[in-house]
Amino acid sequence: MIKLGLFLRNGIKKGKEHNKKNSFTKTFNIYRYNPDLKEEGQQIDTYHINTKNCGPMVLDALINIKDKIDSTLTFRRSCREGICGSCAMNIDGTNTLACIKPIDEVRGDVNIYPLPHMEVVKDLVPDLTNFYSQLASIKPWIHSSKAPGGSERLQSEEDRKKLDGLYECILCACCSTSCPSYWWNGDKYLGPAILLQAYRWIIDSRDESKEERLNLLDDNFKLYRCHTIMNCAKTCPKHLNPAEAISAIKREIAARSI
Ligand code: SF4
Ligand code: SF4
Ligand code: FES
Repeated sequence: MIKLGLFLRNGIKKGKEHNKKNSFTKTFNIYRYNPDLKEEGQQIDTYHINTKNCGPMVLDALINIKDKIDSTLTFRRSCREGICGSCAMNIDGTNTLACIKPIDEVRGDVNIYPLPHMEVVKDLVPDLTNFYSQLASIKPWIHSSKAPGGSERLQSEEDRKKLDGLYECILCACCSTSCPSYWWNGDKYLGPAILLQAYRWIIDSRDESKEERLNLLDDNFKLYRCHTIMNCAKTCPKHLNPAEAISAIKREIAARSI
């Protein structure tokens, strides 16, 4: 696999122009990586799409390319409606979901890369192994010694409201891969997505492991590499604010020592 940092993009060679441009087409410049060729396997391929013949989103154009022009183009997608998080990629310089990014929002050519500073498996597919093992490390499920009364674990409306702005996270990794602290220390710093998930369980009134969860996060690298640069909140396609959740965790930890 290869790691594609933002600053390494300039050296990537121009690849194949797959079809002809005309006055009805929009140009898509797409990062390609063939893992069998290692460093040599990187190039930017160009495709010209008549956007009248495909749906309005960038993912529609990628599917059109794969179906009609180049079946070797590799990317992840599933729900096509901003729910599964699998189509996260860097479009026009911003990490976002291809399925909810309108093609018309991009002026000029549409430049598409995989999420930055991640190992690339192939083309637009990043390796999320480290991201998922970091998620597993925070034990993202309810910890309770009691069986639910009836069929559900109830909570007050007020407690339920505390989860707003957190439960909506689809773990797309757009925020973590936009965070400079995560770029440089992604092996030790948990990053905004995982910390937002951690906070979602810390403040759940039904969870019994708040102390244990805070103990796990009270660590120079896991939590305190966040320097409030705010790239995470700026890029989140679900309009969430991981930086705020990170600050709330820091406040919870600080309150324990008062
Ligand atoms: S906080 Fe937003 S950007 Fe980060 S993983 Fe969740 S949905 Fe994606
Ligand atoms: S606020 Fe923290 S988590 Fe968000 S981008 Fe900045 S350093 Fe990363
Ligand atoms: S395909 Fe599911 S979020 Fe885009």
